[in-house]
Amino acid sequence: MSGHPAELDQAREHLRRAASICVLTGAGMSAESGIPTFRDAMTGLWQRFDPMQLASEEGFRADPGRVWRWYAERRAGVRAAQPNGGHRALAAFAQRHPGRLTLVTQNVDDLHQRAGNADAIRLHGDILAERWLEPCRRSPSCDPGRALAAEPPRCGECGNPVRPGVVWFGEALPYHALDAAELAARRCQAMLVVGTSGAVWPAAGLAAQARRQGAVVIIVNPQPSEIDDEAQLCLAGTAAQLLPALLDPL
Ligand code: APR
Repeated sequence: MSGHPAELDQAREHLRRAASICVLTGAGMSAESGIPTFRDAMTGLWQRFDPMQLASEEGFRADPGRVWRWYAERRAGVRAAQPNGGHRALAAFAQRHPGRLTLVTQNVDDLHQRAGNADAIRLHGDILAERWLEPCRRSPSCDPGRALAAEPPRCGECGNPVRPGVVWFGEALPYHALDAAELAARRCQAMLVVGTSGAVWPAAGLAAQARRQGAVVIIVNPQPSEIDDEAQLCLAGTAAQLLPALLDPL
């Protein structure tokens, strides 16, 4: 915390009084668990890789093996990671106050779920999930988990390749997830935005939706973000440092 305990107390008081809290997390939430973010200078994945080649359907079709190996490496990193103090503080708050906190995440790791927020709304999918690249025409459809081992795995019957169960650039977000997230943003009295640059829509628009209906928006981020203007309070610090300080007393 950059020496502004008064802002921390203000933020805690807003959260204490809020009957309904919507939390939006981004890659910064998992940074202290050792999972790289996308846009941080030097360490961000998009500083080292071209997202259009690795996180798009076109990129996968152009070089399925390369994309598959890149996701396999990221999956191994997720499996080796552990939830940090920020994940645990959010899960503990949700357990102390059932039904009061709706967690919306842009992250495709499973750290919120492993910390205890099993019902986290996943806007961008799940890196540990697999699905067919083409719709399977069989009924019932074949199980991607039983595809033939290869890079990427393929259906033994028709050769359909398996792809990661994440939302790629240019793809629509899962409708029900986005609908639930927007409903939570429109109903909350406080929105806590943790570890996102606010660079990617529609997730980045949730803070404005909350602010427009009168919610207090609080941002936790060591750096400025593209949605700071939507916040009444910007707390300069990290998820694992600030979330326990914000939530544990409540
Ligand atoms: N605690 C809190 N925030 C942090 C921490 C930390 N320990 N470390 C970094 N951050 C902040 C950075 O300052 C940055 O604002 O996390 C943010 C990470 O931003 P991005 O890398 O852009 O990640 P995110 O906002 O989640 O990206 C949104 O873009 O590429 C797509 O699908 C991908 O879901 C992702 C989306």
